[in-house]
Amino acid sequence: MLNSITLQTPQTDNDWQNYFELRWKILREPWQQPPGSERDEFEENSFHIMAITQTGQAVGVARIHQLDHMTAQIRYMAVLDSLQGTGIGSLMLARLEKQAQDWKTKTIMLNARDTALEFYLKKGYIKLEATQTLYNRIPHTKMEKQL
Ligand SMILES: CC(C)(COP(=O)(O)OP(=O)(O)OC[C@H]1O[C@@H](n2cnc3c(N)ncnc32)[C@H](O)[C@@H]1OP(=O)(O)O)[C@@H](O)C(=O)NCCC(=O)NCCS
Repeated sequence: MLNSITLQTPQTDNDWQNYFELRWKILREPWQQPPGSERDEFEENSFHIMAITQTGQAVGVARIHQLDHMTAQIRYMAVLDSLQGTGIGSLMLARLEKQAQDWKTKTIMLNARDTALEFYLKKGYIKLEATQTLYNRIPHTKMEKQL
């Protein structure tokens, strides 16, 4: 499966539609949040990556943006439910980390859902502190990795 997945940055209107739709489907729809709630004010200044199958289906999305010249933040990592655990998240995370290195970032931070903590721990991120509980139901922990 994994060797038939490619990573690309969304380019066309159709790509962007698929990109945000998958982000919404995985990270917002299960909590009854409306389309549009999956976006923030940093989209235009972010580096985005999308994992697609050979037939062009979007199966993973992720984003990183610079907080300052030393620090970048990963947000909105999401893999299609049926393909979680098959390596797509690892592939995307490695690409985001490469982008951070190209920016000469020293530290990547993120706020992980507690259900995703193990994934980031396996990738060398360390836990800092509990942060917000999204929609009163999704606890998050601030994590970081030094590059
Ligand atoms: C978290 C997520 C992005 C990880 O992507 P993925 O493609 O499922 O992860 P991978 O298949 O690359 O997994 C890499 C390793 O992490 C482990 N892992 C992945 N997700 C995990 C989870 N939620 N809990 C425990 N371990 C997990 C895998 O078992 C694998 O372990 P291994 O290297 O020992 O085999 C994906 O599962 C997802 O979209 N989850 C739902 C949305 C979400 O929580 N996003 C993160 C918001 S902060």
